[in-house]
Amino acid sequence: MKINVISIVFPILFLATGNLFAEKTKPNYDESKVPKFVLPDPLQSPKFGTIKTPEDWFNKRRPELLALFKKEVYGQMPGVDPLKINFETLTSVSDALSGKATRKEVRVYFDYPNKEPKIDLLIYIPNKRKGPVPAFLGYNYKGNHSIVDDPDVAACPPIEGSRYGKVVPEEHRAENKHRWSLDRILDAGYALISGCYEQVDPDRNEGYNNGIHLLFKKEFPDKEVGDFPANISGWAWALSRVLDCLEKMPEINAKKVIVIGHSRLGKTALWAGANDTRFAGIISNNSGCGGAALSKRAFGETVELINLGAPHWFCKNFKKYNKKEEDLTIDQHELIALIAPRPVYIASATLDEWADPKGEFLSGFHADPVYKLLGADGIGDCKEWPPADHPVGKKIRYHLRTGKHDVTDYDWVQYIKFADELVK
Ligand code: GCU
Repeated sequence: MKINVISIVFPILFLATGNLFAEKTKPNYDESKVPKFVLPDPLQSPKFGTIKTPEDWFNKRRPELLALFKKEVYGQMPGVDPLKINFETLTSVSDALSGKATRKEVRVYFDYPNKEPKIDLLIYIPNKRKGPVPAFLGYNYKGNHSIVDDPDVAACPPIEGSRYGKVVPEEHRAENKHRWSLDRILDAGYALISGCYEQVDPDRNEGYNNGIHLLFKKEFPDKEVGDFPANISGWAWALSRVLDCLEKMPEINAKKVIVIGHSRLGKTALWAGANDTRFAGIISNNSGCGGAALSKRAFGETVELINLGAPHWFCKNFKKYNKKEEDLTIDQHELIALIAPRPVYIASATLDEWADPKGEFLSGFHADPVYKLLGADGIGDCKEWPPADHPVGKKIRYHLRTGKHDVTDYDWVQYIKFADELVK
């Protein structure tokens, strides 16, 4: 039989390009085109009915919601063997930054005595202190040497499979210094603790074959299951392991650690804070879709767009909601509610429409009933999305900063004020 090559190749090509060009939705930036939707009520449980007491929240509804986020959005959170978590101090200098701080470089092991996987922490502790200090803990993107202008800080060791080209030493030194108001943080009496997120798990869609995922193999042998722990779960899990180690450091008050993250790391900070109630405060900076922004608004980045752009961040089940946000029985305000009654800060930026600033505000706003039930003042007397540069709320704090997708000194001024009031 003679086979006509064109009749085979052409339809295949057509299908392939059809998929690429026809189906992917364009982001919507028009408020009047936001679909009509009903947000699920965090205090209504399909199984337990209306939640009326803090006991029912903590014993019934909270576990139910947490399980849903694991199943449908981020994937499961692995267990932990405390004996396998350990750390080693690599360097310690008591007169860093002209004597203002003690600087430490500490290596945390996740599978001790194996030396991999690991993360190197850069820690600055204010020297002006009376006892253990509260701390901000946050991942950085491009290595510890990228967050400060301090030639003595070790460059990040090369990372196989990294999104940023092995996190090249030197090239990124001090590149993101503007995102960490180090002097301000230390002057306010807080330690700063940071490590590179890609050391925990490289940020690529390579089939969960490297980084922290190698550790999870035994507990989760089948990577194809719909709720296999995706990267955000892995990064969040590791933040809790860092906290395990901070509990053993006498200079740090581990009961007052605020986890902070920007963008995908803001999504990670929220998920870490939802799972681990030891985090005393959570700051989500411009976290957007899959972070603070409500999925059902489908404004800017949508569930479909994020699942296409970074399929490895969220579990397979989340893909069911591509273009079908209406099928979600949960939304991101319930992620914020999982943090209640602890303080949470959600920050947006005016030029960061991709992250849906209004949707970020609304998730905080709609978490308020849970704070109220727990006897906490969440969003305060705020009734609507505030104008730029007007922070609102109490334990659910929010601001829309003028400017682009970034972390700035303005943001840090607010975060420190918030931490002074509610955590310190
Ligand atoms: C992309 C992605 C966002 C994410 C951001 C980041 O823009 O679409 O969801 O927050 O990267 O992490 O920098």
